[in-house]
Amino acid sequence: MILAEFVEEACSRLDLTSEALQQVAARFEAAMRDGLAGRPSSLRMLPSYITRPTGDERGEAIAIDFGGTNVRILKVRLADPRYADITTQGAESSGDAPPASRGRARGQAGQVQCGKPSSFNLKDPHGAYDYTLAETRAEELFDFIACHVVDVLAGDRSTLPLGHTFSFPCRQEGINRAVLIQWTKEIRTSGVEGRDVTPLLAEALERQGVRNVRPRAVINDTVGTLLAAAYMLRGVDLGSICGTGHNTCYLEPRHPLTGKPMIVNMEAGSFDGVDLTPFDQAVNEASVRPGEQLLEKMVSGAYLGEVVLAALRTMVGERLLPAANRSWNRGTLTGVDLGQVLKDESGYDNTKSVAQTELGLTELTNEQLHALRKLVESVTGRSARLVGATFAGILRYLDPGLEREHVVAIDGSLYAHMPRYSAGIRAGLETVLGPGARGVTTRLIKDGSGIGAAIAALVADAQE
Ligand code: GLC
Repeated sequence: MILAEFVEEACSRLDLTSEALQQVAARFEAAMRDGLAGRPSSLRMLPSYITRPTGDERGEAIAIDFGGTNVRILKVRLADPRYADITTQGAESSGDAPPASRGRARGQAGQVQCGKPSSFNLKDPHGAYDYTLAETRAEELFDFIACHVVDVLAGDRSTLPLGHTFSFPCRQEGINRAVLIQWTKEIRTSGVEGRDVTPLLAEALERQGVRNVRPRAVINDTVGTLLAAAYMLRGVDLGSICGTGHNTCYLEPRHPLTGKPMIVNMEAGSFDGVDLTPFDQAVNEASVRPGEQLLEKMVSGAYLGEVVLAALRTMVGERLLPAANRSWNRGTLTGVDLGQVLKDESGYDNTKSVAQTELGLTELTNEQLHALRKLVESVTGRSARLVGATFAGILRYLDPGLEREHVVAIDGSLYAHMPRYSAGIRAGLETVLGPGARGVTTRLIKDGSGIGAAIAALVADAQE
């Protein structure tokens, strides 16, 4: 086989046709209906016991954002309605919506202020400690987090509610009760799976002598993103993370458990309705949990480089690329590397540098560099269009005639930084919804999971 043929065939599998995207949207919609009705489904459809905020929530709260090995703790103040946008001190929030939709912020949206966040790693880069290992006990992990709450409080003794964004699949049994189903993202700490994380945190705070902060709510990061966006914008009914992991939540107008509106954490990364290419099969087989999180393995930042590597391995096997002078492992090609390649609009300077430094492929011909860039475009473009198609499936379920305006709140490194990613999501939405996509806007909501945790804590506190 010659190089041009290989690339054409590989990319024609990756560049999904309109029919394939329509099929993904339809299968996603069917899976959400099944999951919601308690029928077998690859979507977990987990209840959150919280709905959209009114925008009138006020007060101070502590927020913990625990979604991976990096944990952040913030003190958030939801203040008087004065500005038409979220302003933060510690972390900035911004939007990338087209100008036409900017004016849709609530006339009197709330002001959010975040004090300097404490951001820390559960794994010391120099190996001094690692709270993510199976040898670590739940109590040790939560004591470590509680110590950082002490730092953020800096002697503040006022009574504060605490919201906890815990972004792992949890069986939620109330706004403040979340039982970890299983760890994802390579965390293995013992004694957390199968347990409610709120008492684990509350007891650790107690052990650290923190008596003025009470855990009130535990939410997923997608839910936090939706809450933070809905606090300042109208029409927000989807929240999504497009970063290292991928997931989406939406506002269910009539939840079967309550008959009332409730945000549902879909655990969209586990959707299994997209046909796998041979590269996806290779990634899945080499992964820690084969057969699970299939959409996440095609879409999220942690895996996109692996899909590209799988294609490159086949090319080396077919002698379409020279053998590399270093070995390729998990993480050899990061999302940042793929972004660099995509920045080569004309010429191959970045592609060449990534090929040399990351892949150990020196002296590639222009045709080979072109093939690498084309593969990266197809893999990242597929990710964005697939995400767009799943949003379209949810929107068709919510509003079959697409009569209302809809805002999709998104956070995560792919959406924020990957070249052409948000355009790819739009392309997926437009392919499926046609002109109906005109009323759909996507917005970048930075730090939504932390701010959303604070909103959830204040909502729960007010309900008591
Ligand atoms: C993984 C988690 C999910 C989270 C997502 C984004 O898919 O299972 O709960 O929302 O990553 O962080």
